[in-house]
Amino acid sequence: MKLLSGSVVCAVLISVGGAWAAGPPSLESGQQLFESAKLGTSGKSCSSCHQGGKDLKGIEASSDEQLAATINRCIAGALKGKRLDPESSDMKSLVLYLKSFAGTGK
Ligand code: HEC
Repeated sequence: MKLLSGSVVCAVLISVGGAWAAGPPSLESGQQLFESAKLGTSGKSCSSCHQGGKDLKGIEASSDEQLAATINRCIAGALKGKRLDPESSDMKSLVLYLKSFAGTGK
């Protein structure tokens, strides 16, 4: 049973692979997205404003869902880009990467 649910999770992760990075969410693609200006049309990237996790203190108190909503707010507002599907691999990678800043206290 455990084996079965594991492979279902894998299949879901693979099937929601985003337009950007095919494949399962990863810290690496999260970092690439974070540093890329291609998420929006303003010429900025997340790291233009949040370099090294700056101003991301509040993420520790956020659930993954809240985090995805906040990320989309910054994509739509700060980056003038298109919101990502919260279930997409790209969004999950960004959430993973942002959580790696948790506790750094910036
Ligand atoms: C033009 C500057 C700017 C850019 C670019 C930007 N943000 Fe933000 N971001 C802010 C500001 C200002 C806040 C704090 C105010 C707010 O919550 O809206 C914030 C808040 C956040 C928060 C909430 C932090 C907390 O402590 O609760 C997250 C998460 C976040 N941004 C992620 C991102 C991600 C991911 C990107 C790239 C897709 C991004 N931001 C791009 C300016 C920016």
